[in-house]
Order: sequence, then C-alpha cells, then structure tokens
Amino acid sequence: MGAMVAANWKMNLPPEGVEAWVGSVVGREESEDVLVVVAPPFPFLTQLAHLGGGAISVAAQNLSEHEAGAYTGEVSAGMLDRAGCSHVIVGHSERRQIYGEGDELVGRKLRAAASAGLVPIFCIGETKELRDGGGTRGLLERQIGTALRVAGTVDGLVVAYEPVWAIGTGDNATPEQVGETHAQIRDLLTPFGLADVILLYGGSVKPDNAAELAAVEGVDGFLVGGASLTSESFKAIWQAMVSSRA
Ligand code: 13P
Repeated sequence: MGAMVAANWKMNLPPEGVEAWVGSVVGREESEDVLVVVAPPFPFLTQLAHLGGGAISVAAQNLSEHEAGAYTGEVSAGMLDRAGCSHVIVGHSERRQIYGEGDELVGRKLRAAASAGLVPIFCIGETKELRDGGGTRGLLERQIGTALRVAGTVDGLVVAYEPVWAIGTGDNATPEQVGETHAQIRDLLTPFGLADVILLYGGSVKPDNAAELAAVEGVDGFLVGGASLTSESFKAIWQAMVSSRA
C-alpha cells in the first residue's frame, strides 16, 4: 500500500519562502517511498507544481462542486487540474466548521474532484464533545456514508482522520486513539469497497510525535498543518514516516 505525507499550509506561507521550502524538500532519496503532497493557497499552486518538478505532488485545499459558471470566488476541479494539481483536500474541518460545509456538499465535491481525475484527500473527524460523549463512531459513519453515497465511485481516494480537537491545539490523538479510530474507519469504508485506501492521520503532528504515530498499525501517512510550514520540521515528519516503513 502507498504512503503519503501531505503539507496543508492553510492560509499561510512558509516563513522561509516558497522557493526555499521546495528547494529544501525536493531531491531527497525518500521521495519515492512516501509521496510528498503540498497544499498551498490557490495563487501558489502553479508555482509549486513548477518548482516541485514532479518530485512533489500539488493539492488544492478546496474546490467548487460545480464545473463552471457564475460562482464568484470559486475554483473548479478542471481549473485545478490545469494549474498542475493532482490532489485536492475535501471536507477539511475548517471548511465544515467555519464555512458550514455539510456531508452532502462534501460528497458533491468528492464527485467533482473525481470526475476531473483529481485524487481527493477526504477529511473526517469528531469534536471533543462527541469523543467525550461516545459519539465518534456514529459521526464518522455519517460523514463517510453520506458523502460517499453522494459521490459514487472515487478512484484512488485518500482519507484523512483529523479529530477536530487535535487540530492546531498541540494536543495530538494518542497512538492508541489513532489505532482504534483508524480500524473503525477502515471498517466503515469496507462496504464501499475502500478497505485498502491510504488512511492519513492529522492533528498536531510534529517531529517529536511523528515516529510513534507512524508506527501505529493502519497509519499510511500524515496531513500536517502548522509543522509543515518550515521545511526542517516537515522533513523530520516525512523522515519518520519513511523510517517506519523500512
Ligand atoms: P495542525 O497540524 O496544525 O494541527 O493541523 C492539522 C490539519 O488541519 C491539517 O489539515
């Protein structure tokens, strides 16, 4: 099975600059083993695709569910493809929470991505209240079931488990929580013929916890926010993933 380490820069740029970041990350031997994906803000997609020269894959952080038309401020899957993207993040918790994206819209976005040949990185995950109240599995079942029934077949789908309470808090899920929840997610994906998807963990992944999280059964990589902004910490996380597979 493949593995991936993806950088989600959100609405940020690396303090060292885009060019220096890419220069520091590309050209390392590990790149063939563990795919490196970078998701910059929209205006930097083409630059990333150009600088990465194929050694890194480029992802958008969002897309429209529509193909074209009067949708001011939106970007279609076909446009992302032309800008050099191979992947697109869909259903990130910040899109769900801040911009009100629901499971059906997420499903339509998955379908739009797939029909343009983009690989969606489909994000799911529970809030603290749901985890504490025992509602994690029910929520994941709804997020997966509703979106995938709307989306239909999505070739090469990647799933990212990102518990909301672990995102940007410095408080990562424990290896036990990740192992248990990844097993539940694979279980929920099985009826859709997706038991073997690449399944990432995201939420406060850092150089100092990457090795123990990479060692968890069923973790095929990471979706990294804050710690992806400097090339040194991103490379350390990538290296931890590579070493866990050696
Ligand atoms: P952090 O790594 O900053 O917690 O963000 C995770 C995330 O949301 C990646 O998509």
